[in-house]
Amino acid sequence: MDRWTTIIEPFRIHAVEPIRLTTQAEREAALEAAGWNLFNLHADVVLIDLLTDSGTGAMSRDQWAAIMHGDESYAGSPSWFTFLAAVQDLFPFRHVIPTHQGRAAEKILFTAVGGAGKVIPSNTHFDTTRANVEFTGAEAVDLVIPEGREPATIHPFKGNMDLAALDALLTARGADVPLVMVTITNNSGGGQPVSLENLRAVREVCDRFGKPLFLDGCRFAENAWFIKTREPDQADRPVKDIVREIGGLVDGMTMSAKKDGLANIGGWLAVNDDALAEQCRNLLILTEGFPTYGGLAGRDLEAIAQGLREVVDEDYLRYRITSTAYLGDALDQAGIPLVKPYGGHAVYLDARALLPHIPPLEYPGQALAVELYRAGGIRGCEIGTVMFGLHPDGTESAASMDLVRLAIPRRTYTQSHIDYVIEVARDVASRASSLRGYRIAKQPAALRHFTARFQPLG
Ligand SMILES: Cc1ncc(COP(=O)(O)O)c(C=O)c1O
Repeated sequence: MDRWTTIIEPFRIHAVEPIRLTTQAEREAALEAAGWNLFNLHADVVLIDLLTDSGTGAMSRDQWAAIMHGDESYAGSPSWFTFLAAVQDLFPFRHVIPTHQGRAAEKILFTAVGGAGKVIPSNTHFDTTRANVEFTGAEAVDLVIPEGREPATIHPFKGNMDLAALDALLTARGADVPLVMVTITNNSGGGQPVSLENLRAVREVCDRFGKPLFLDGCRFAENAWFIKTREPDQADRPVKDIVREIGGLVDGMTMSAKKDGLANIGGWLAVNDDALAEQCRNLLILTEGFPTYGGLAGRDLEAIAQGLREVVDEDYLRYRITSTAYLGDALDQAGIPLVKPYGGHAVYLDARALLPHIPPLEYPGQALAVELYRAGGIRGCEIGTVMFGLHPDGTESAASMDLVRLAIPRRTYTQSHIDYVIEVARDVASRASSLRGYRIAKQPAALRHFTARFQPLG
């Protein structure tokens, strides 16, 4: 097996789902109706949907079978205990609180610990995490290492926390910090992993200041695979063992099971602290549901439990990370500027570097994402000034990077789909100087990228 280099999807296709080919004229009309916001498109006019890897993956035969075991009892369902055992097999927290997705866990956690005057440091907060922190009046601070902000710099763990910056923040404002977060992998910083060495060191800093450490664990298995393949002395460890060590280093976690839960919906909040758990469960009951189902049906709990068993399979993870790198390598060879090394779940195109004639406040990431759709029906996601440039006081500034994320749904597209993406991206890049920027015609006060409407400039 080892000497063959062709990527083999470690599964056969068991049920097929049609995707629709559209003409460029149809796509142009769809864009105008959507206010040039790809989130507003009808998904059936998208050919290859790389908007997100969240909840968009294919479930396995065994997950669909597990769904038939779903027990919909309101309280104490057997499906809850199956879910709890699967979570605790990887992350041995005392309290696991099921939620309908990751942001519900964030909302509950930061309602409990946030508030005006508080500061929450992270390597990089994901957009929903930042929004939930800021919604409570607290400040969300990103302290990723300097290499993590430089798209072209090669570093094996660009998601690492800047330990000196964390130490300085805790020294200056320790009393305002209820907890420290680490996001694995660092989605907003290019899907970059955090090393075990860095996690252990963050734990040590937190211990010195008496602060709890929380994980945003959405892509824990991909992060563990990077640790196994990139970090000294980790190659011989089973991925599951690495995941368990990560779980043992932290005091709690938020999780979206739509990523490395291999499910279409779901999440959890887990904590060790009994008083915090009680406070969070009371909040859960207000908006999500009873603590043994949270925002989920029994069948969802079963699908997640089975997904957690499958996601630490090393044949799966090897295929997952290799096939993402296949897309990255091909785009790199075509001269398209990219965040390097490639992330686990996505390849990030550096729109600011590809489109230097479009200033950040005319949204180069948006321009590139729209053109990939217009040309080839490929839907990616702007991660840049549209997503992060608007501040709570209504002012706007350039984000640190203007990226377009091509996120790969898990176990969904084949290598020939990816070859098509490469062909379209090459064509768009060859015409880069002809692309124009956008202005925002209408936007909400927060999380504007989801619903804003745009107008093309020029
Ligand atoms: C790192 C990270 N944290 C949190 C979330 C939020 O999860 P959800 O979409 O399930 O609410 C996401 C989702 O994309 C994410 O990537």
